[in-house]
Amino acid sequence: MSQAPISIQPGAAPAKGDGLRAGPEHVAIIMDGNGRWAKARGQPRAMGHRAGVEALRRAVEACRDLGLSELTVFSFSTENWKRPPQEVETLFDLLRMFVRSDLQRLHRQNVRIRIPGEREGLAADILQLIEEAVALTASNSGLTLNIAFNYGGRAEIVAGARRLALAVREGQLRPEDIDESMLGASLWTAGSREPDLILRTSGEQRLSNFLLWSGAYAELMFLEVSWPDFEHRHLAEAIEAYRRRDRRFGGVGE
Ligand code: FPP
Repeated sequence: MSQAPISIQPGAAPAKGDGLRAGPEHVAIIMDGNGRWAKARGQPRAMGHRAGVEALRRAVEACRDLGLSELTVFSFSTENWKRPPQEVETLFDLLRMFVRSDLQRLHRQNVRIRIPGEREGLAADILQLIEEAVALTASNSGLTLNIAFNYGGRAEIVAGARRLALAVREGQLRPEDIDESMLGASLWTAGSREPDLILRTSGEQRLSNFLLWSGAYAELMFLEVSWPDFEHRHLAEAIEAYRRRDRRFGGVGE
């Protein structure tokens, strides 16, 4: 087990008063660093992604153990098509394998699976697996696991805006009636709580087009650990740091 130090940046400001805040309910994770993890071990990048699936399994267990209601993970972005075709195929195969091998267990664990993202461009068998996983687990009431796949925050907002524009063209909606909640309800992530906390592993400090709309007020934490080394303790420590944060949502605080 890796014992890399946990470094959470930027500074975690203590919440006002002496109590810690509750939550988070919904944690979202940019699972970064698979490629570098593999390279450091003289292995092909695909090995890093495979180890990343193991880390995802551990993260789901950790979220259930720590009582979170929702986990969203960034598993393939609309920009990841720029990677070599072999790597794109590896990531598609990993989604296939994950759904085939883990679906029944997750269902038994009462996990609800959702897979937000652009469906166009996905192979028919992947579409079928996605449909199957979402339908089978739709009524589960435990952890909601959102596997963002072929997902991009800008593409999501464009798709939502397009849906509303079509409704306007059909005469079902007036432009002046469009508000934030209506656009939010038109997104691929509609029905999810806004993430309270977005984590990114591997030390990079950017959002890379993840949850641009719903993450507007999320707390951000950047962890030095590579995703394949992610353990229960990393999530537990991030949650602890989150509870010391002062969230103001544009107001003046508590
Ligand atoms: C970023 O690391 C990671 C990804 C682009 C893919 C994340 C995918 C997984 C963890 C496994 C897939 C799981 C499912 C269920 C499909 P990187 O490759 O950019 O790492 P690097 O920055 O070190 O090169």
